[in-house]
Amino acid sequence: MQSAVAIPVLASVVAVFSAVAGQTVPSAGAPVGATDITFDEAAPVIDAVRQRAPAELNGVPTRASDWPAWVKRRDKEIRARLDRGDEDSVLNMLLFGTTFTRLPRALNDSSRLGGPQRAAEIVRGRIDDLAKGIISPGANERLQFARSVVQRSGIDPAADDARSRITQFLRDIMLRVVGEVQTYAETLQAARQLDPVDEFITRSKMLRSRGLSSDTSILPVDAIDEALEAIHTSVLGGSTVHRAAIIGPGLDFTDKAEGFDFYPVQTIQPYGLLDSLLRFKLAAAADEVYLTTFDLSPRVNGHIEVARQRAGTGASYTLELVHDVGATWQPRLTDYWRRFGDQIGTPADPVRPPRDAGAVDIRAVRIPSSVVSSITPRDLDIVLQHLKPTAAGPPFDLIVATNIFVYYGAFEQALALLNVATMLRPGGLLLSNNALPERLVPSMKAIGSTPVVYSDRRDDRDQIIWYQRQ
Ligand SMILES: C[S@@+](CC[C@H](N)C(=O)[O-])C[C@H]1O[C@@H](n2cnc3c(N)ncnc32)[C@H](O)[C@@H]1O
Repeated sequence: MQSAVAIPVLASVVAVFSAVAGQTVPSAGAPVGATDITFDEAAPVIDAVRQRAPAELNGVPTRASDWPAWVKRRDKEIRARLDRGDEDSVLNMLLFGTTFTRLPRALNDSSRLGGPQRAAEIVRGRIDDLAKGIISPGANERLQFARSVVQRSGIDPAADDARSRITQFLRDIMLRVVGEVQTYAETLQAARQLDPVDEFITRSKMLRSRGLSSDTSILPVDAIDEALEAIHTSVLGGSTVHRAAIIGPGLDFTDKAEGFDFYPVQTIQPYGLLDSLLRFKLAAAADEVYLTTFDLSPRVNGHIEVARQRAGTGASYTLELVHDVGATWQPRLTDYWRRFGDQIGTPADPVRPPRDAGAVDIRAVRIPSSVVSSITPRDLDIVLQHLKPTAAGPPFDLIVATNIFVYYGAFEQALALLNVATMLRPGGLLLSNNALPERLVPSMKAIGSTPVVYSDRRDDRDQIIWYQRQ
C-alpha cells in the first residue's frame, strides 16, 4: 500500500532545506442507526489481545461501566487526527500542485530535479508561492482549503505578518512530516528484512500514529477492480451485489504519487466500485446497487452529500482522470484508466492542464445523476461504530476499505474488523489492502488475495486481501 507522502524527496530536500534555514460543507447527518460497539461485543477481542499483545490495550477499560466513556473519548481522539491529515494534504499540494506556482513539481526523485540542492530551492520557492496563494486564494478550492487549515492554526491570512507566519507554518508541517516519514522509512526498511507475511503485517499498521489523510487516487480503485476480476466467478459467482459499502472513500486532493491539482476535488472510489460491479456482472445496473460510504471526515462526507443533493436536481458528476505519462504504469493500470467509467458514464471533454503540469493524458467521464443519487454518505468511525442490520437496512454483501486500517494498531484494527463483521451478511466479503488481525476476530477469515503492481517504481504495489464473513 502506498504511504501518505512522498518519502524520498522529503528526506533529501529537508536535509538541505533545514540546514539553511474551507470550505463549508453540509454534514452527512447523524449516522442513522449507527451504534457504538459495546463492551460485551468487544470483550472477546479485548481478552484475545490481553493474551497476545497486552501493550496494545494501554488505557482500555477493564470494566463494562467505564467502556461507554472510553469509546466517546477515543472516538474524539481519532477524529482529532483529521487535522494533521489535512496538513499532510496541504503539504502534498505544496510539493506537487501546479495551480499556484510555475515551479516544477517536487517529484519523488530529487535527481530528476537536478539534485537535492536544486530540489530544496524549488521547495523553498513553492513555499513562497503557496503562502501568496493562501493569502489570495481566488476561486481555487484547494487554496481556499489550505487557507482554512492555516486559519485553524490561529493565523490570520489578512494580517500584515501573514506571509512570514504562513511560510513558517508550512515549514513546520514539512519538518513534522519529515520526522514522521523518517520513522516510516526506517520501519519500511526493517520490514523488508522480515519474511513477506510479517513484512505485510508491519506495513499494514505503519501509519498508526500519523494524521488521518483523506487523499486518494485511481490506484487503489484499480486494485479493487483487479480483485473483483479475480473473484467474481470463484467467490462471488452466481450472487449479485445488492448492498455494498466503502469505508473511507477519500478525496482526490493532491496525492503524493499521481496527484495533480488543476481539476475540481473529486471522489473516485464509489464510482470505480460501481463501474467494476457492472463490468464483472456482479450487479445488473448501477442504480440497483445500494451503495453506502462511511467516513468520519466531514469534508469527505460533505463532498459526497453535495454531489447527491445536486443529483437530486438532475446534475451529473464529472470525473477527471489524469495519467502522468512519466509514471511508468503497468499496462493493466493504463487499460483500467482507459476504460474507467465505461459501464456507468459517458466520455466528456477533460479540463486543459496548465503548461507546467508536465506530460499528462486526461480523460473525463460524466456520471449521470441517477448513479450519483444511488450513493449515500454516512458519518461513521469504523473503529468504534457500526450500523446494526435491520429489515429496512439488511447487511452488506461487499465492503471495500483501502488505506484505512493502516492508520490503526492491532487492537483498533480488530475492533474495526468486528464492526465490519456486524455489517456483513454471512459469506459477504471485505476487500482491504491491509493484513488485519483475523485471529482476534474468528467471524472473519482471509480466503485469498490479489497482488497488484502499479508501476516500475519501488514499492508501488499493493495486495488486496479477501476477508469472508463466516
Ligand atoms: C487515505 S484515505 C483513503 C481513501 C481511499 N480509500 C483510497 O484508498 O485511496 C483514508 C480515508 O479513510 C477515512 N478514515 C480514516 N479513519 C477512519 C475511521 N476510523 N472510520 C471511517 N473512516 C475513516 C479518512 O477520512 C479518509 O477518507
